[in-house]
Amino acid sequence: MRTVREALADAARRLAGAGVEEADREAVWLLAHVLGTSAGAVRLHAGRQIDANAAAAFEGLVGRRVGREPLQYILGTEEFMGMTFLVTPAVLIPRFDTEILVREAAALLQGQVRVADIGTGSGAIAVGLASLLPEARVVAVDISPEALAVARENARTNGMGNRVEFRLGDLTAPLAGGDPYDAILSNPPYIDEAEWAELMPEVRQFEPKGALTPGPDGLVLYRRLAAEGLSLLKPGGFLAVEVGYRQAGAVAEIFRGAGLAAVRVHTDTAGIDRVVVGFKE
Ligand SMILES: C[S@@+](CC[C@H](N)C(=O)[O-])C[C@H]1O[C@@H](n2cnc3c(N)ncnc32)[C@H](O)[C@@H]1O
Repeated sequence: MRTVREALADAARRLAGAGVEEADREAVWLLAHVLGTSAGAVRLHAGRQIDANAAAAFEGLVGRRVGREPLQYILGTEEFMGMTFLVTPAVLIPRFDTEILVREAAALLQGQVRVADIGTGSGAIAVGLASLLPEARVVAVDISPEALAVARENARTNGMGNRVEFRLGDLTAPLAGGDPYDAILSNPPYIDEAEWAELMPEVRQFEPKGALTPGPDGLVLYRRLAAEGLSLLKPGGFLAVEVGYRQAGAVAEIFRGAGLAAVRVHTDTAGIDRVVVGFKE
């Protein structure tokens, strides 16, 4: 039998050797997951012995991480807007940057608004927005039935199941024929295929390709969203999208060209242009 300290040191060495940056911390999180306890408790009881079953389970998880599977898929969860989201390989792992889109949109909305989230993935934006706006109703769309199943579960476990509705389909098609929307939000796939090929292994080999890239042209879904979204918005309503590094100018132009007005760009905490908003007059 080995102690927690020995197991952690060995795991951290293997993780670092595989190129995992936060090898020490990730080793602790993986062991905490196996032992059903917190990272703090693992560190506190570093002299404790680990039984054979737990050691084998830990070895298995460390092996997956050595293969560069994202930590979040191994643990099965990620935090977003202070809530816990189930994540599976069917969905993009929600990123902290996406909170900017949710918060900027929420600041422009109040009361009994109707909002759509296009390409909902884990449901992060839809559930996050519903949590900030207690009277809002959100329609969340995705082209992936597997992603929608995860998003539905996340709405339920975070207490938003009665205000977020899920629809399967291509971009705004599932919104057609209904009442107009106060806002349409989206974090669509926006990495062009050439850039996708250069991504770190965690992203390229494990996150769903259809959530990351729309093909050779990273802007294609912004063009469609601007063109299709305008007719679905109420006058005074807005389209707000997350954009990739250096895409904000081009997306703002697309928005203006499609007839959206008062187009603005919001930056993230690192000062990078991250969100583009345009209004229907
Ligand atoms: C970048 S991920 C965003 C996931 C989530 N909204 C977030 O911000 O974490 C893009 C999502 O759009 C979905 N998607 C891709 N093409 C789509 C399309 N044509 N219509 C609807 N959803 C689409 C993907 O399945 C994926 O879940």
